[in-house]
Amino acid sequence: MSKKNQNNHEITVKATTSSAIEGDTLLCFVRAVDGGGPPVMPDHPGLAECLAGAFASGDFIGKKDQVLVCYPPRKLAEATDGKLQRVVMVGLGEPESGGEGWRQVGGTAMAAVRKTRAVAVTVLPPVTDERPATEVVSPLCEGMLLAAYRFRKYFSVAAGPQTGVEKKSALTENAEESESPLQRLIFQGPRGLGIVVSRAAELAKAVCRARDMANEPGNGWTPDDFARQARQLARQHGLKVTVHDRKAMEKLGMGGMLAVTQGSAQPPRLVVLEYRGQPEAVGRRRSRQQAGLPGPTLLLVGKGLTFDSGGISLKPSSGMEEMKYDMCGGAAVLAAMAVVAREQPKGINIVAMIPAAENLPGPAALKPGDIIRQYGGKSVEVINTDAEGRLLLADALAYGVEQFKPTAVVDLATLTGAVIVALGHHRAGLLGNDDELCAKVLAAGERAGEPYWRLPLGPEYRKQLKSKVADLKNVDKRDAGTILGAAFLEEFVGNTPWVHLDIAGTAWNFTEKSYVPKGPSGFGVRTLVELIRHWR
Ligand code: BES
Ligand code: MN
Ligand code: ZN
Repeated sequence: MSKKNQNNHEITVKATTSSAIEGDTLLCFVRAVDGGGPPVMPDHPGLAECLAGAFASGDFIGKKDQVLVCYPPRKLAEATDGKLQRVVMVGLGEPESGGEGWRQVGGTAMAAVRKTRAVAVTVLPPVTDERPATEVVSPLCEGMLLAAYRFRKYFSVAAGPQTGVEKKSALTENAEESESPLQRLIFQGPRGLGIVVSRAAELAKAVCRARDMANEPGNGWTPDDFARQARQLARQHGLKVTVHDRKAMEKLGMGGMLAVTQGSAQPPRLVVLEYRGQPEAVGRRRSRQQAGLPGPTLLLVGKGLTFDSGGISLKPSSGMEEMKYDMCGGAAVLAAMAVVAREQPKGINIVAMIPAAENLPGPAALKPGDIIRQYGGKSVEVINTDAEGRLLLADALAYGVEQFKPTAVVDLATLTGAVIVALGHHRAGLLGNDDELCAKVLAAGERAGEPYWRLPLGPEYRKQLKSKVADLKNVDKRDAGTILGAAFLEEFVGNTPWVHLDIAGTAWNFTEKSYVPKGPSGFGVRTLVELIRHWR
């Protein structure tokens, strides 16, 4: 249980284009030229020789996703004191412009490297005058690190048999040390690459963090684990953290949180992390109740159901184990906060809230027909105890909006199976009450390689949630399930610009891509970080 999941490759950057190659593996990129001309590749002694035969035979011509592993001829091996053991070449074809193409190239490259016994890889990024380092290296590095991710913590043997190094590591005494076959990525390139690479690595690390949390089963990641992680982050980086427990929820009147959690023995947590990016103006200290935080404040809310059985409205048993992933929204928010904590962006405050609970049936569980009172006083008739996410989020949203007076709110939630019916696993649903904020998040998602599709809201949908005995009911007929989930949440944000991201179809089983593993994808982290890094 205590075994750490090793996914952190050390990355170094060499500000040089000389021929010094460190490590046992050289990774370079080859571009096919129209009409079958010679491939374009980095200028390294002996490299052309490596490629000549493969190219002449037509086996490898630098087509997109083509991979060639070759073993250095004497000239190249000698130039590196015999340390270089292999050259991995990845075809670029004519890569689409924009980050996503490069991210996928990075993923393909890492997959190829992982099939070898590589330990330290020198990367020659395909940077040219037309392709500046920032545009290429950032997504390339991101794709490589995202593709390197594995979750192996629960295997009693350190690693599976897929690569030589991993095979060997199973025999070594300190298996943890060598769990990852790839320990070092050395990026060679012009000056200025360092920041680009470290920012990309920071982002990839956060995505992998979110994947780690999600990969934990229900008995390995409980609501209190969100609290623990948040406290640790706060301690390390000087953020403010508040964890509301059941007692505090009772005092605050968070009937949604309490209702969802009452069938479970796991105590609920409402985790609040505050980052202040703007110092308070002198002499203008007003109480938070009246004025909120000074400067623009972004409120992030992530659904943190560490297991969702459906409660008394029990889900079918087939596939129910996947509901350990029902905390992916919370994981994305917490992981994004780790980047915020480290990068300390100026001019923006960010508040993260993770309502975390477990939804189980039991003698004390919430029942269909029960009427509860959400934070702020609205009453809700619970028709279906499996529509629990909105009950949690409603309390968090209402409380967060009142407490922090945010300029914008973004929530992420694996809220409805209906979003999979609508959009499949390729795009997440986006709904909101503010066109400008919607456009901003849509654009950030596009840049980050996490695409969304906007669905409508409106009074006709809100009307569907009218109850005969309470202010609202939590579900209606099956129709427009994703919209109704959002329409419910809309009731709790008032006039604050708000965007809801329904990531039920993308948080795991996300579109097949070279850098997306099976299982949890970490979807949402990159959107949030992109949004924050380019807030204004
Ligand atoms: N966590 C589920 C949504 C979900 C379903 C996510 C499948 C990923 C895959 C959520 O709590 C839920 O159960 N929603 C219900 C809502 C319904 C009762 C209105 C659903 O989608 O069936
Ligand atoms: Mn549910
Ligand atoms: Zn759920």
